[in-house]
Amino acid sequence: MTTHPDFGTTLFLGACDVVALVRRKGLPACIAGIAARIEADTRRWNDFDKSARVASHSADGVIELMPIADATQFAFKYVNGHPKNTRAGLPTVMAFGVLADVSTGAPRLVAELTLATAIRTAAMSALAARVLARAGSRTMALIGNGAQSEFQALAFRDLVGIRELRLFDTDPAASAKLVANLAGQGFETVRVCASIAEAVRGADIVTTATADKANATIVTPEMIEPGMHLNAVGGDCPGKTELHPGVLGMAAVFVEYEPQTRIEGDLQQMPADFAVTEFWRVLAGHAPGRRSADQVTIFDSVGFALEDYSALGFLLAAALELGLGQAIDLVARADDPKNLFGLLHAEAPARAMRRRRHALPVG
Ligand SMILES: NC(=O)c1ccc[n+]([C@@H]2O[C@H](COP(=O)([O-])OP(=O)(O)OC[C@H]3O[C@@H](n4cnc5c(N)ncnc54)[C@H](O)[C@@H]3O)[C@@H](O)[C@H]2O)c1
Repeated sequence: MTTHPDFGTTLFLGACDVVALVRRKGLPACIAGIAARIEADTRRWNDFDKSARVASHSADGVIELMPIADATQFAFKYVNGHPKNTRAGLPTVMAFGVLADVSTGAPRLVAELTLATAIRTAAMSALAARVLARAGSRTMALIGNGAQSEFQALAFRDLVGIRELRLFDTDPAASAKLVANLAGQGFETVRVCASIAEAVRGADIVTTATADKANATIVTPEMIEPGMHLNAVGGDCPGKTELHPGVLGMAAVFVEYEPQTRIEGDLQQMPADFAVTEFWRVLAGHAPGRRSADQVTIFDSVGFALEDYSALGFLLAAALELGLGQAIDLVARADDPKNLFGLLHAEAPARAMRRRRHALPVG
């Protein structure tokens, strides 16, 4: 582990810490910083030990664990997806994650990742669009105006140059919230549309970030115009899709990690031999991206562990720079590591643990 200076301690970044971190650094800097890390980490794709995430499904949603490691750091994220949660006042998506030292297994960072998930998802989407969408794209349809939507809008403003937004959500209050939050954010137009078709018409880029545990058909083939780029964010687990299969059939489809997207993405609707390209291959120059101005491209986003590895690294570096977070005694450590039992004997262990906690630097 290279980033945390104090061997043996774990830094905890709770929700308040992460909010403070993003406010102090500024959201655009966080989007740019996480995007830069995702790009750099994606370029060294083969350094990572990768696997599709482990998912536990229920009637109302999914809870997932997302592990990944390179030679020095192991990361995992816990994340859920429960589309009906908002009716009960809970977010659809909630997350936290861990960074650990590969050489010792010691956990270095435990961090709230709900906010960082929105930032890293938007950063990944915009990074893919910067490579795959037509040059000069300025107009984006944004379908699904919930928790992810502001982050998507701002990442596309900064990384792609989107200046006009057309919004649609089945919940008008969600669109009104998005309009209010984007006021003064540098968009030339932010227009709420009466239908998905109206929002999509003439757009350079179409982002779908809806939440419904169903095979929805948010975008259908007759809506597609030559040269469009689709950023499909909300179809991210079995039985939860947004694109009509005919849309996938008419496009070049790019994915994060194919074994995971085959199960979770809009791609789940297509035959096993339907050709896709992993995005890292385009970044690394191993595969072409868009082949012509008329080609329709799709980034079938599901969210891959590498993006959380990159986000956790960003949070840790920023927290240390800003002096945020608390050192915690997450794991029990006896003075004599072979005498774990000794911690159970009154005086000594309590004193040892307390002493260690006081010795930890904050931030
Ligand atoms: N790919 C990834 O990496 C990634 C990361 C985070 C979230 N997600 C997914 O993105 C989606 C959005 O997440 P969120 O946190 O913004 O959820 P959210 O519940 O806050 O917002 C979803 C919005 O979609 C709207 N909606 C639902 N059905 C619709 C329809 N048919 N047409 C138009 N709008 C519709 C809802 O009214 C709501 O406003 C979820 O499905 C989530 O699982 C994906």
